Parts: sequence; structure tokens; C-alpha cells
Amino acid sequence: MFKDRTIGVTGGLGLIGSFLCGELIRVGARVVLVDDESKGSWKYIPHLRDKVEFRKGSLENPHFAKEALEGCTSVFHLASRAYGVGFSQKNNFEMFRFNDLINTNVLDAIALHKAEQALVVSSSCVYPDDGPTPMPDSIPFGGEPERVNWGYGWAKRILEQKAVIYQKETGIPITVVRPFNIYGEHYNWVGDSSQAIPMLVKRILDGENPVLIWGTGNQRRNYIHALDCSRVMMRLLENGYFERPVNIGREETVSVRDLVSRIVASAGLDVTIVTDRTKPEGRFIKSADSKLLTAALGDDFEWKVSLREGLERMIAWYHATFPKNEAVTAG
Ligand SMILES: NC(=O)c1ccc[n+]([C@@H]2O[C@H](COP(=O)([O-])OP(=O)(O)OC[C@H]3O[C@@H](n4cnc5c(N)ncnc54)[C@H](O)[C@@H]3O)[C@@H](O)[C@H]2O)c1
Repeated sequence: MFKDRTIGVTGGLGLIGSFLCGELIRVGARVVLVDDESKGSWKYIPHLRDKVEFRKGSLENPHFAKEALEGCTSVFHLASRAYGVGFSQKNNFEMFRFNDLINTNVLDAIALHKAEQALVVSSSCVYPDDGPTPMPDSIPFGGEPERVNWGYGWAKRILEQKAVIYQKETGIPITVVRPFNIYGEHYNWVGDSSQAIPMLVKRILDGENPVLIWGTGNQRRNYIHALDCSRVMMRLLENGYFERPVNIGREETVSVRDLVSRIVASAGLDVTIVTDRTKPEGRFIKSADSKLLTAALGDDFEWKVSLREGLERMIAWYHATFPKNEAVTAG
């Protein structure tokens, strides 16, 4: 379905977007990569530079958003301001305002150009902290979104609702996905505002010892590699799945403490772990009900990257990209 088609990817320089662009190119799509380079960067994906059409600008600008998505038959909307909880919980209004603005501009552009279909990316942060475990792919919600990502979570909830309304009014099928914790290579660090796995990998490989974990370390998450996440997104559009938001996550979880131990073991290091209970740790267990995902993907979908392989990939990438003693600066 993507071969020889022009596919727009907003946020294509980001963690998930960079893998998605790579996969779309692999299956023969013409990729229009839209990004303002505010967080994503070409420095880790130079191999894609000549294979895509890069439209640089900020989707905060509605005129740019319309120009950027012109000619795209399908659109994957990934651009967002998404940082770790340390930043998010102190900047709720900014996270809400910024994300809501770019989401509206992108949906307007999709409607204007009459794309054949689109996929927009929400988040597991839409779920309330006291909801059921595992989290079901349900709508509407009770309560507030995840406390430590309150403003960001509201912007994602509103994106989901806007997608439903746009779909009804324009007839354009819009798939909505809620990724849980996604990780992988190509990550552009943003100092203390980086997300969990990339931040941990970098700190451990940079030689931090003891390694500090925020919260108790017992909080549990499920992790999916960005390559698999991007393959899921493509498959959902291929299967014409747009009935209701679908979790990109799994039931099984690992504790953050266990995750650190696995990174340390994969890297062949000997490191002590300490915790700081004064720091936020978010919801205790974040596990996804994946029944809908499994049904929507179809029986023949194969996951390619296990957590063990994913961590090994990240560590190998880190060593290859940043030779020893070469510091990585934030941003
Ligand atoms: N990574 C995760 O664990 C996770 C979990 C849940 C949801 N998500 C969602 O998935 C999507 C992709 O996440 P990611 O981890 O790849 O994020 P990322 O931060 O790595 O990538 C986002 C990209 O959007 C770009 N961008 C930001 N503002 C922009 C603007 N105004 N105009 C144009 N481009 C802009 C950034 O430069 C960056 O390249 C996001 O919508 C995010 O909210 C991610």
C-alpha cells in the first residue's frame, strides 16, 4: 500500500519517526519528512538524508503545516513535544498548548489535502493513574490523565477526540494509536528531560556508578522497540484499522530496577543501583491490554526486536556512535 505513494511523516527525525521513515523507504514509499529539528536530528540518521524529501519548519505555524503535507496521500503524525516526567510535570500548560496547537494544524492540513488516510499518535499518558491494570483501549475516560504528564495527556486526549470528529466530518479514516514505552537507537538526548531507557543507557555507558533511579525502582513498564512500533503503525494503516484507539504495548512488564540490571549486564559492567524516592516515578504499573492490538495486526504480524535484543542494539549503537571518552552533549 505504501509502494510508490507519497507518505508524510511529521516528527520524522525523532525516535519513532526515524525508524518509520526507514521502514517506509524499505517498502518503496516516497517519504516527505516534516520536522523542525527542535529535538530530532540528522546526525544519527545520515543514511536517510538523500532518500527522503525534507520539509523543514514548525508545525506551530498553520501555513507551514499546510505546505508541508501537500501531495501526501497518507500521513503519519508523530511530531510532538515529548520529554521525560521531570520536564513534563513542571510545564503542563506549555506541553498542552504546544501539542494541541500542532495537532490542530496537522489535522487541518490532512483535511485540506484530502489525504486518503492518516495515523495520529496519542499516548498511554491519556490513562488515569488509578485506572485498571492492564490498561484497556477504551474511550471515553474517567478521571484525569496521568498526573506527571497532565498537560501533555490532555493534549493527547483532545487529539483523539479531534480525530474522531474530523473522521466523521471529512470521511478521512484516521487511526489513533497509544504507544506505551518506546525505546531504541537514534535517540537525541535532551539532558535531564530525556526519556527513561535512553537516559539510563547513556548514564550507564558514560560510567555513572552508582546509577541513580528515580522513585522506588519498583515501578513497572513494558517496552517496545521503535522499529517494531513503526512496523505496527504501518500495519494498522495497511489493515485499514481506524475504529478506536489502539494500545501499542503489552501486558508483561519489567521493573525499572530490573531494566537497569539488564542494561548493566548487556554492557558487561559492574554497577551499584541507588534510588531516590523524592523524585517522581509516575504510575506504579503501566501495562497495556493488547487484545485489540493483536486482533488489529492480524495473525501473521511478527515482532522483530525482543527487549534483550533491543538493549543490545542500543548499546552497540552507542559504542559505535560515541567512541569512548567522547562526551555527548544534550540536545
Ligand atoms: N517514545 C515514547 O515512549 C512514546 C510514548 C507514547 C507516545 N509517544 C508519541 O509518539 C510520537 C513520537 O515520539 P518520539 O519518541 O519519536 O518523539 P521524539 O521527541 O523523538 O520526536 C518528535 C519529533 O517531533 C519534532 N517536532 C517537535 N515539535 C515540532 C514542530 N513544532 N514542528 C515540526 N516538528 C516538531 C521533533 O524535532 C522530533 O524530531 C510523539 O507524538 C509522542 O508523543 C511516544
